[in-house]
Amino acid sequence: MLSLSKVTKYFETPRETVQVLNAVSFSTSPGESLAITGPSGSGKSTLLHLIGTLDCPSTGQIEIDGMDPFDLAEPDLAAFRNREIGFVFQDHHLLPQYSVMENVLMPTLAFGTNNDKGEDRARTLINQVGLSHRIEHRPGELSGGERQRVAVARALINDPGLLLCDEPTGSLDQARATEISDLLFELHGKAGNILIAVTHSQSLASRFGRHFELEEGTCAEV
Ligand SMILES: Nc1ncnc2c1ncn2[C@@H]1O[C@H](COP(=O)(O)OP(=O)(O)OP(=O)(O)O)[C@@H](O)[C@H]1O
Ligand SMILES: [Mg+2]
Repeated sequence: MLSLSKVTKYFETPRETVQVLNAVSFSTSPGESLAITGPSGSGKSTLLHLIGTLDCPSTGQIEIDGMDPFDLAEPDLAAFRNREIGFVFQDHHLLPQYSVMENVLMPTLAFGTNNDKGEDRARTLINQVGLSHRIEHRPGELSGGERQRVAVARALINDPGLLLCDEPTGSLDQARATEISDLLFELHGKAGNILIAVTHSQSLASRFGRHFELEEGTCAEV
């Protein structure tokens, strides 16, 4: 369902060409969970952005569901990304002026797919992340761990085949970190999606079915 073949990424800056990823290849299928670790600056976020189709490889190929998403025109790619891919970022990117419910529903609003079914699913997810008593709160009225749980619910609203998390527990204390990772695995188990998470935590990485380490642009399974 997801495969990377000799994926390379470099960035042109006014001063130099920065090579970040060097011939990264792996495949994974629904139900699998992958952890990606590596030193700061090794290219973890860059790799997650490419898999999430937010940026395209310099060379090499990414296939999702047997097709190259970068063959799609931009509006189709945006719709594909919205439907098929859920993101949980370290700093959650919630919209401060909207409630928990509205934030979770946001990916359904973007493409006019919102309806009662969407709201029911949002309610179920908000319940699953333990926030049914905070449904009308704004992000500013939530704790850091609660905001992260909203981000998890939002990432899952369209039931994506691919769930990508960039240091989902990075800003949380140990107890909250365990709670969020338990939640991610529970929802991953139910949905049978592909879960890929970048983490600095070796203990979190050890909970994943597979573990990749990035070092100077090279990705090796460990
Ligand atoms: N748009 C860009 N232009 C130039 N260089 C970039 C760009 N984006 C990232 N880089 C460089 O690519 C390298 C990898 O960045 P990336 O954000 O993927 O690292 P990371 O492994 O996620 O690090 P961290 O653990 O600190 O989040 C860094 O050295 C960074 O400076
Ligand atoms: Mg990063």
